[in-house]
Amino acid sequence: MIKVAFFDTKAYDKPSFERYGEERGLQFRFLETKLNEDTVELARGCDAVCVFVNDTVNAAVIDKLYAYGVRLIALRSAGYNNVDVQAAFGKVHVVHVPAYSPYAVAEHTMALLLTSVRRIHKAYNRTREFNFSLNGLTGFDFHGKTVGVIGTGKIGRIFIDICRGFGMKVIAYDRYPAQDSGIEYLTLDELFARSDVISLHCPLTPETRHMIDAAAIGKMKKGVVIVNTSRGGLIDAEALLEGIKARKIGAACLDVYEEEADIFFEDRSGHILNDELLARLISMPNVIVTSHQAFLTEEALSNIAETTVGNIVSCFENDGVCDNELCYRCGNIEHCKKERKEKCF
Ligand code: NAI
Repeated sequence: MIKVAFFDTKAYDKPSFERYGEERGLQFRFLETKLNEDTVELARGCDAVCVFVNDTVNAAVIDKLYAYGVRLIALRSAGYNNVDVQAAFGKVHVVHVPAYSPYAVAEHTMALLLTSVRRIHKAYNRTREFNFSLNGLTGFDFHGKTVGVIGTGKIGRIFIDICRGFGMKVIAYDRYPAQDSGIEYLTLDELFARSDVISLHCPLTPETRHMIDAAAIGKMKKGVVIVNTSRGGLIDAEALLEGIKARKIGAACLDVYEEEADIFFEDRSGHILNDELLARLISMPNVIVTSHQAFLTEEALSNIAETTVGNIVSCFENDGVCDNELCYRCGNIEHCKKERKEKCF
């Protein structure tokens, strides 16, 4: 039986992982703590670890996992910026869930935008107290506005379709533009200058970290709405706050935050928030924060569990391919994923 240490377990994880795990003969050790150098010991005796977006899987953690005999890191997420895939190469295989419901994330992106621009969150609170005033609730039409989409992969392209349904003009930037897609690609600077709404859908890499910084914000239209359902590190949050205070940014919708790891996913009401920057952002009338919930639909949870369990089983039972492996052999993970027909090492 394959033993799996399951870190950062949430109540919503268990039902689907227990169901698919039982079907495929996996034994899960559900742990509430996150994986990091202090907790890695808990993986002793397991064949694999299953981790989420805020577990820390750096070189030191990987070396310990390897020493304990753990041979697989199974991410139950699409993004893998929290795993040092290069350090894992040759020691511990790494797999992820490339797509579980890109619709969930794209739809949440539009939900955040509509909530913010049409002031739904304010109206909801008002009418609950029988306050039926419309003062301060004026929004703007999306129809005819320009949305700049950064990253036109699975989620970005579904979001583009949604925006087109609203009659928005779509422009985009991608490091690797999709050929024959009918998408109008521009440089980042052109996108910043022309967009009424900017939505981020690219991965967090050393190159994309803080791609939205003070210089980028300086190039944007006054009143621009920025939405980030990708990774917090794409935005320099201090620069974002300055842009909001200067009235340059009209609104910000954030499902992710660079320092979210010790904050999001937990009930912290009744506690003093230790992150002043986040507290300040949340206090702004034109900022909406959700705590990394864009993926959270029933369909996505079921797909995540089914794919992750399948990935784990394939890596141990099949000596040919490790399904959805993130390979570092040639140093270009995206390229490698397309070419590889066997295990990474
Ligand atoms: P994907 O791999 O299908 O698409 C990513 C796109 O970004 C690709 O087209 C790629 O060429 C592009 N890209 C790569 N480097 C770039 C750069 N330097 N500049 C601009 N574009 C670049 O990924 P998918 O499934 O669309 O997911 C996008 C991101 O969404 C993930 O990286 C993840 O961080 C985030 N995500 C967030 C979730 C949430 O719950 N908030 C859930 C799932 C994913």
